[in-house]
Amino acid sequence: MELKKAIITGGSRGIGLAIIKRLLKENYEIWYISRSQIGENLDGLLHYVNCDISDHEKLEESLKEIVKQATTIDLLVNNAGITKDNLIMRMQMEAWNDVLNVNLTSAFITCKVLSRTFLKQKKGSIINISSVVGVSGNAGQANYSASKAGLIGLTKTLAKEFASRSVRVNCVAPGFIETSMSDKLSEEQKAQIVENIPLSRMGNVDDIANVVAFLASSEASYITGQVLCVDGGMVI
Ligand SMILES: NC(=O)c1ccc[n+]([C@@H]2O[C@H](COP(=O)([O-])OP(=O)(O)OC[C@H]3O[C@@H](n4cnc5c(N)ncnc54)[C@H](OP(=O)(O)O)[C@@H]3O)[C@@H](O)[C@H]2O)c1
Repeated sequence: MELKKAIITGGSRGIGLAIIKRLLKENYEIWYISRSQIGENLDGLLHYVNCDISDHEKLEESLKEIVKQATTIDLLVNNAGITKDNLIMRMQMEAWNDVLNVNLTSAFITCKVLSRTFLKQKKGSIINISSVVGVSGNAGQANYSASKAGLIGLTKTLAKEFASRSVRVNCVAPGFIETSMSDKLSEEQKAQIVENIPLSRMGNVDDIANVVAFLASSEASYITGQVLCVDGGMVI
């Protein structure tokens, strides 16, 4: 199998870690960018890049260093994300800025810095991890929903800008997936959520990793600019 090269933001745990495990099986060499390292040993070509992606200058420097090492990039996954929930009347400017910086502005930077490499290569794929709340909104998540909706706009625009060079850009919009992000919910809240999921279960990290692997593969070579909701039927 041909060796492919991927960069993923986040990746130390949760959905990002599942994506890494899946891509290692698909013969990817991977650079993951996060503030902490994966807490287990994984076999494969895996490089840890310590960076807080809300430090935009450091993110840019880190990406340039990765490109120097990798020389070509087949896949960029913008996965890292945070929540700082509150009703808008109680939401502080800091919570708005923090969430937008990590979830959206970092993706603008990764796409901008790597655009030259992708366009020169005339191949590659970008996958942005959005959320169903970026499609449908959610009370108490103005900052998070806006950041995830922003990723959808970024995806659709870059799909148009990059298509002539055969670079594809897509979004995966997970529903409720069991990770440390959803651990913040009480059992009662989780039960209420499951009641509103047509497939009657929360998703797991592999549900998302499988779709990312598909969208990155040549089997998806005619798909660009799409938002694939992986949510058990919540958004239909
Ligand atoms: N879980 C869900 O139900 C769900 C639903 C819809 C969408 N999503 C989206 O899926 C993505 C992954 O979520 P998850 O559930 O796997 O969350 P998670 O378990 O909390 O993991 C978040 C990842 O993002 C990284 N990260 C956070 N802030 C960072 C920063 N400032 N700099 C660098 N890395 C940072 C974390 O690494 P470090 O802490 O080591 O830096 C970690 O690897 C997010 O974009 C999230 O919005 C999740």
